[in-house]
Amino acid sequence: MNRVKASAPGKVHLIGEHSVVYGEPAIIAAVGRRVTVEASRAQYNQVIDRAMDREEKFSVKEALGIADRLDRLWKEGDKKGDFSEMFKLFKENYLKAVVGKILQVLDTGGGVHLKVTSDLKPGAGMGSSAAFAVAAVRAISEVYGIELSLEKVNDIAYQLEKFAHGKPSGGDNAACCFGGLIWFKKGEPPVIKSLRDEVPYRLEGFVLVYTGKPEKTTGELVQHVKNLKADFRNSRVKILGDSTRDMLEVLEAKDMDEVAKLMNVAQKNLKELGVSTDRIDNISEKVRDIGGAAKLCGAGGGGIMLCWHRDSEKLIKTLKDMGEKPMEADLGVPGVRIENKTGSE
Ligand code: MEV
Repeated sequence: MNRVKASAPGKVHLIGEHSVVYGEPAIIAAVGRRVTVEASRAQYNQVIDRAMDREEKFSVKEALGIADRLDRLWKEGDKKGDFSEMFKLFKENYLKAVVGKILQVLDTGGGVHLKVTSDLKPGAGMGSSAAFAVAAVRAISEVYGIELSLEKVNDIAYQLEKFAHGKPSGGDNAACCFGGLIWFKKGEPPVIKSLRDEVPYRLEGFVLVYTGKPEKTTGELVQHVKNLKADFRNSRVKILGDSTRDMLEVLEAKDMDEVAKLMNVAQKNLKELGVSTDRIDNISEKVRDIGGAAKLCGAGGGGIMLCWHRDSEKLIKTLKDMGEKPMEADLGVPGVRIENKTGSE
């Protein structure tokens, strides 16, 4: 194919963030906002990233060189227990690294032109880097006529997530790649199970609200929870774990009122764990007052909130009246896919 467009959804935690760190399950949902990558073959790489407003040109050799160095730094970082050198190189060479790793694994022998667009907010806990990685792998493999299973696409995207996060859980890339809902449990290896049999439908009527850039990093927020008194923390972690197991049951029964109740239970407990903010508390209170549900997503401290109400127009009006900018988005949407192909070999 001369030109291929692939897209992948972002993700949100429907429930189970933070408690997942203590071995409880989480449910991660592919969300109806996507990253799109248009690819064509080229000798010299060029990436036009409209999402981040940047453009770069670099040789295949340069890109492969960065990928090799990152592979080495990951191994050294793993031994030392400190990935900071790798993080620095990855941040400074993000586009080269993404393209380089994909060309390296696929052994394409040539380069690519990529155009990237996105309706995800970067840095908001929506998995924008994982979605980009997944869509780029799919687009580049297709343009080079290399057949890849979804598992393999996911595996390459996971290798890229390792450059970004050292030892990530793999939950984000799985949700972006496979779509739908993912049942996730930490471990060696982690449990990453698609819930397409249990929950074969899209969850409609959800609304996302961006509550600002978190002042603390995910690592700092996870540490904050670790520093709490064990009894206080563990009782909330247990409630969050039980609520996640209950969530699966009520999803199977398609009982949205119970889904909403469990979202509110999760928000209450996350607030008690100290990872909410005044703005998030205020929104969740107002949404609860009109009979809906609202919770923070991911690490918290800001970022994206997930809201639901049986009457989504009422929910949207309430949020707008508060000065927020609600974005409608279904959950459990399809994973990575080819959007179109033009030209022929
Ligand atoms: C971050 O998206 C979710 C947390 O549970 C951390 C993690 O799972 O690694 C807070």
